[in-house]
Amino acid sequence: MQKPNKYAIGLLSGTSIDGIDAVLADFSSAQPQIVAVHSHPFPEELQAELKQLAVEINGPSLMLTDIMRLHGELSIVFADAVHALLSQNRCPHELIAGIGFHGQTVGHHPEAELPWSLQLGDANRLSLLTGLSVVSGFRSMDIAAGGQGAPLAPLLHREIFQASDTRTAVVNIGGIANLSQADGSGFDTGPGNCLLDAWVLQNKNQNYDPNGSWAASGQANENLITTWLQDPYFQLSPPKSTGTDYFNLNWLAQYTPLDSIPAADIQASLSELTARSIAASLEFSLTSSLDSKRDITIAKLLVCGGGAHNTDLMMRLQNLLPDVQVSTTAVAGVDPDWVEGLLFAWLGWQRLNNQAVDTRKITGAEKPLLLGAIYQAVA
Ligand SMILES: Nc1ncnc2c1ncn2[C@@H]1O[C@H](COP(=O)(O)OP(=O)(O)O)[C@@H](O)[C@H]1O
Ligand SMILES: [Mg+2]
Repeated sequence: MQKPNKYAIGLLSGTSIDGIDAVLADFSSAQPQIVAVHSHPFPEELQAELKQLAVEINGPSLMLTDIMRLHGELSIVFADAVHALLSQNRCPHELIAGIGFHGQTVGHHPEAELPWSLQLGDANRLSLLTGLSVVSGFRSMDIAAGGQGAPLAPLLHREIFQASDTRTAVVNIGGIANLSQADGSGFDTGPGNCLLDAWVLQNKNQNYDPNGSWAASGQANENLITTWLQDPYFQLSPPKSTGTDYFNLNWLAQYTPLDSIPAADIQASLSELTARSIAASLEFSLTSSLDSKRDITIAKLLVCGGGAHNTDLMMRLQNLLPDVQVSTTAVAGVDPDWVEGLLFAWLGWQRLNNQAVDTRKITGAEKPLLLGAIYQAVA
């Protein structure tokens, strides 16, 4: 008799395009457990092309042939990531239900007349190359059902961090940041690391600002921050989601006299912008979810995603939220770098087990849904 499978793989590259996250997780107990992780680099040229594409997706010069070439190339690199992950441990294939495959977002437009969100990476090819079933297209059904298609992270946060702790909020600071409120709702707060990364790349030719030390060397400019915070995205009420095809260097240039302010001060201001937009969103969540009979206050803010390593950003968050204990998800037993990988393993597992997920309070979808399409492997 065949043993029941109990593992699933989560596979993604976020909007930071810093590399591929691959997570093998065990779903045989009440709480999913991370068994193995692998961070897979992009070939340099592919990474540069993807970063360019995220900005150009709104422009007129894009070729369909380039997009489809990247779609295929990505599935090969993602398959390499799965092979590297599985080479680290002896997990037999037949115990793996499949791969929850997010792919690479290159455009996210829930506000379009016919909303869409595009993730590249061919699930068919990935399934053939790995011999595993693949679930992909997690955002499409949500969008079709009137949802934003993002963020999806609050679903897992609710499951693993908030189920027994009603005074905890969680923020995932990737390229874009998303907040999971204590009442199970959630939304994208705006830029996480994306503007910080873009500005440090342009000025210092580094992919990111290690520990936020360049930001810490500058002086945050109040006028700039006030102007930025007037951007319509920050004024929108949830459900809302965004992407790096909105928050990028063009966004920055449109609001900022870039030549007249020291570059380090702009970096400091961008770090403060990320922190303030998160803190303000938390306050929004507190006031919006407050029912007058209950006096709910958040005691803890758990941070995951690469932003958890940015000391400057973490200090700014703590300063803005003096009554809240700000720490990384490591204190709750999950490494902040792998929460999102675990999310896609979990979403894949849910779909393969025909479990609907309820995004109504997050993305605004009209009903609980089966997210993702299954690309079934044949033995
Ligand atoms: N040591 C660090 N110091 C500052 N920022 C960091 C550090 N490590 C990671 N980051 C930031 O985290 C980003 C990657 O975060 P990640 O959660 O992978 O985002 P995404 O989901 O968008 O890929 C990097 O691009 C960088 O901005
Ligand atoms: Mg990443």
